[in-house]
Amino acid sequence: MQTLTYDELDPDDRALIDAAGEALSTAYAPYSRVRIGAALGTASGIVVGSNVENAAYGSTLCAERMAVGRANADGERAFRAVAIVGAGDRLPADRPVSPCGACRQVLHELAHATGTATRVLMTEPGTDRVTIASISELLPLPFEPLPR
Ligand code: THU
Repeated sequence: MQTLTYDELDPDDRALIDAAGEALSTAYAPYSRVRIGAALGTASGIVVGSNVENAAYGSTLCAERMAVGRANADGERAFRAVAIVGAGDRLPADRPVSPCGACRQVLHELAHATGTATRVLMTEPGTDRVTIASISELLPLPFEPLPR
């Protein structure tokens, strides 16, 4: 795990952060007022998603999994990296926006299935800091496909 500034990132990673930031504008978050944008780096480009909340709170869809579903529908399952950006005054200060457990498990599944070490770029709201970790650092001892 390491923390860099936005300017220290390579251009591909900066493009992912930018795309996740743009995806914030499509978030539907009237309940939590926390908007999340996610951007996946795939072989053919960038696929974004944002959170979609529901009055039945448990039916809320996270930004990361919205992006994964969209990428999969486009035939892309290997993600070199995912960038996550959050906005909203209810987000805690001084810590990066990190993916929830379910999103970690979903990202792990496809990293494992495709043999891709997905990097997770987590921005810290209100700062130019980006914390970078691998999905295996964020989800040690994941649940994995059962042997036949
Ligand atoms: N959220 C995400 O989009 N991704 C995560 O990994 C964690 C949480 C959303 C769900 C909900 O709309 C809002 O953040 C507050 O929990």
